[in-house]
Amino acid sequence: MTAVNALELRDLRAGYDKATVLWDLTLDVPTGSIAALLGPNGAGKTTLMRTIAGLLRPSAGSVTLAGTDVTRASPHKRAQHGLCMVPEGRGIFRNLSVQENLRIQAPPWVPEADAVEKAIKAFPVLGRRGRQAAGSLSGGEQQMLAMARAFMADWKVVLLDEVSIGLAPRIVDEIYDAVRGLAGSDVALLIVEQYVGRVLGLADVVFLLDHGAATYSGPASGVDEERLTAGYFGESPAGVP
Ligand SMILES: Nc1ncnc2c1ncn2[C@@H]1O[C@H](COP(=O)(O)OP(=O)(O)OP(=O)(O)O)[C@@H](O)[C@H]1O
Ligand SMILES: [Mg+2]
Repeated sequence: MTAVNALELRDLRAGYDKATVLWDLTLDVPTGSIAALLGPNGAGKTTLMRTIAGLLRPSAGSVTLAGTDVTRASPHKRAQHGLCMVPEGRGIFRNLSVQENLRIQAPPWVPEADAVEKAIKAFPVLGRRGRQAAGSLSGGEQQMLAMARAFMADWKVVLLDEVSIGLAPRIVDEIYDAVRGLAGSDVALLIVEQYVGRVLGLADVVFLLDHGAATYSGPASGVDEERLTAGYFGESPAGVP
């Protein structure tokens, strides 16, 4: 049976050393939905994603993935339970070729050739650049390479942390076309995005985070984009392009 929620966080508290960043967060991401995680710089969005992925250990609360409590599970175990994180910044091996980077990203339970093929289907340019050093790709191509793993398996939850940062609008379109293609299956997406308008057009549910606490959690239709942009992001270019 498919769990109602792909991801459940209950009273999650986490941070670094003695500094608590996330304060008793409770969130549900329904199976197959697209969730936007929004909030100003330093709100704790990346910290939350790292805690969900198991890179940070919470000091209290729980993380449940498709009905399985993974609070104490390693990042590797969480991946086996269907969790994929595309981290902030472009985590690629610059000196290795595109092909080599793709093979490294392939989850161990997916035949390597299938995994690479799926990634190239999502981003055909990666197929054309196969032998090129990853560090010599354009910024957009590097981001596509960094996202490739999200397309390689039937994940239950994919976390995307600022995948459009620093890219031209045309490239952002291309990346979001692929993200839209990813959705629609059973996968739930949790997306952190500075271009609020872009992700609000896509999201079913929205979580607003401020100083590590959820200040809104509900349908995307309940979010006023203008107020959000003014209140959360000041004069920043959020909402563009
Ligand atoms: N490795 C770390 N050690 C100590 N404190 C950290 C560390 N990483 C982040 N923090 C602190 O945790 C808080 C939340 O940071 P986080 O990176 O989660 O915010 P964010 O919402 O992702 O911000 P941004 O929009 O800038 O990416 C900040 O106060 C930050 O200084
Ligand atoms: Mg961040």
